[in-house]
Amino acid sequence: MSVHVQNTRMTTTRLRKMKEQGEKIAMLTSYDFTLTRLLDEAGIEMILVGDSASNIVCGNKYTLPITVDEMIFLTKGVVRAAEHALVVIDMPFGSYQVSEEQAVSNAIRMIKESGADAVKLEGGEEVLPAIRHMIQAGIPVMGHLGLTPQSVNQLGGYGLRAKEEAEAEKLIHDAQLLDQAGCFAIVLEKIPSVLAQRVTKAVGCPTIGIGAGCETDGQVLVLHDMLGLNDGFKPKFLRQFAHLGEAVKVAVGDYITSVKDKSFPSQEESY
Ligand code: KIV
Repeated sequence: MSVHVQNTRMTTTRLRKMKEQGEKIAMLTSYDFTLTRLLDEAGIEMILVGDSASNIVCGNKYTLPITVDEMIFLTKGVVRAAEHALVVIDMPFGSYQVSEEQAVSNAIRMIKESGADAVKLEGGEEVLPAIRHMIQAGIPVMGHLGLTPQSVNQLGGYGLRAKEEAEAEKLIHDAQLLDQAGCFAIVLEKIPSVLAQRVTKAVGCPTIGIGAGCETDGQVLVLHDMLGLNDGFKPKFLRQFAHLGEAVKVAVGDYITSVKDKSFPSQEESY
């Protein structure tokens, strides 16, 4: 299927218009220059340099250990490659919870040094003062509700969130607060599709789902998971759009064989 690639840079205003016009938004995570260039050329509309880099790039079990410096380092490469997509940098655990002042100063530093267009942070009412300060400072902010991996130790795992009505009601309320505060979009992670649909109707900003059904305004997946580079992780919501893990192993196996049997490099590949 061919995709229409935008010639202009994506903006938060255009994303809102896409919601109003019922045009779905496609977002993926990315963590480096080379893959980002491919995503951008393919027409992806938003790129998240997620703190999932802690797992995907650094090999940590949780997202918690990644630092502001590490997020900035990765995002610089992504920004250099993204000519059209809007780039969002995830604020890591500990960078916005201590105080509003610390939150806004970390957000400013992350935007200034990485070149990203916007920041994302997890949480609802409890992070609202920090979000308001960032928006007042001119920084576009993306919210993140439902399963919030930075709270894994409090949540007790990565299970489906807001199954009960009380948690669902709080989530809708939090989404409305984020929307009213001026968040340009909200990630909804691992919640029932019916709830994601209710939230999407209750807010003016676009909702971007992951494990939240097809009624959100857009979708996001972790790039390495959807490319099949991470076979150990196969939750129900994840579709593998390719099986690159297998392709990499076959290519590397061929390379090893060719080195060992001296068929590589050939005469043509030699000077
Ligand atoms: O860090 C991340 O990759 C995320 C997405 C799962 C939304 O927050």
